[in-house]
Amino acid sequence: MDGSVEAAIQEAVLALRAGRLVALPTETVYGLGADAEQPGAVRRVFEVKGRPRSHPLIVHLAEAAMLGDWSDRAPGYAWELAERFWPGPLTLVVRKSSRVIPDVTGGQDSVGLRVPAHPVAARLLQEFGGGVAAPSANRFGRVSPTTAEHVRRDLGSDVDLVLDGGPCRVGVESTVVDCTGVVPRILRPGGVTREALIETLGMDVPVVQRSDVRAPGQLPTHYAPRAQVMLVAVDELSERVDLLRQTGQRVVVLTEAELAPERLFAALREADESGADWIVAVPPAPSGVGLAVLDRLQKAAAPRPASG
Ligand code: TXA
Ligand code: MG
Repeated sequence: MDGSVEAAIQEAVLALRAGRLVALPTETVYGLGADAEQPGAVRRVFEVKGRPRSHPLIVHLAEAAMLGDWSDRAPGYAWELAERFWPGPLTLVVRKSSRVIPDVTGGQDSVGLRVPAHPVAARLLQEFGGGVAAPSANRFGRVSPTTAEHVRRDLGSDVDLVLDGGPCRVGVESTVVDCTGVVPRILRPGGVTREALIETLGMDVPVVQRSDVRAPGQLPTHYAPRAQVMLVAVDELSERVDLLRQTGQRVVVLTEAELAPERLFAALREADESGADWIVAVPPAPSGVGLAVLDRLQKAAAPRPASG
């Protein structure tokens, strides 16, 4: 790691210790980080994001061995997943230990934990030593940032320091696995595929629509660009696009390349910047990392409130 990156990381460590907010690159998306053990800093994350306080944050850790510190009686399968996929794009929801303050979890007795793989995040966490609570570094409900520039444009001076680690390699958020029950369940599809989880554990890992956790599933839109999003079958694509254009709407059709996870969020932002009224896409098949892409597109296409 070159000297200027190293210096920026040292500055970020001091900022976190001082209770300030640091945007950090991860392999999935950029996070808006705060010292997970400082209530004031954690509260500011919610304020800057505009996120309801009941909606829990993920705590980022330097290494898998720290799972025991931050969780209480994590099941064997959670340890297996940690061993296999950390560092990497997987978040484990486990029963929290007393080290986790209620501000992080919105008062729930579980906590989301993740060891990110991005070298800058890894080095920061190692130097910092504690946990960094970090949601994606976007305003609540909007598209997650996959470059440092996206973060600066979204959050401006509300973030004290932005560490630039280049474009995110994975491009969609981590897979969130609920490990509080007898068997694991996927709460959010992401960078680690369902197939890989099943293969590792040798058991089925269902995707659940969350009803028992306070999560963005209940909200009308999420991962949303400003333009409206429409998902159409491939054989209806040209007809639907023509109809929209005939009524004077500006339409951007996402290409297959733009539906790759590492391109998706940047493509949604570019469509907004080009002044699109509609973003139209043919949804990918629900397998592999396509499941995560499909999930984000469906949430972006969900009905929106009449205003605001
Ligand atoms: O890839 C990622 O996960 C990124 C990077 C920065 O690590 N972070 C991220 O954070 O996407 P956020 O806050 O935007 O999304 C976290 C997700 C939310 O859907 C939240 O509901 C879920 O994880 N989550 C966190 N803690 C939870 C808990 N205790 N129980 C259930 N769900 C939880
Ligand atoms: Mg988010």
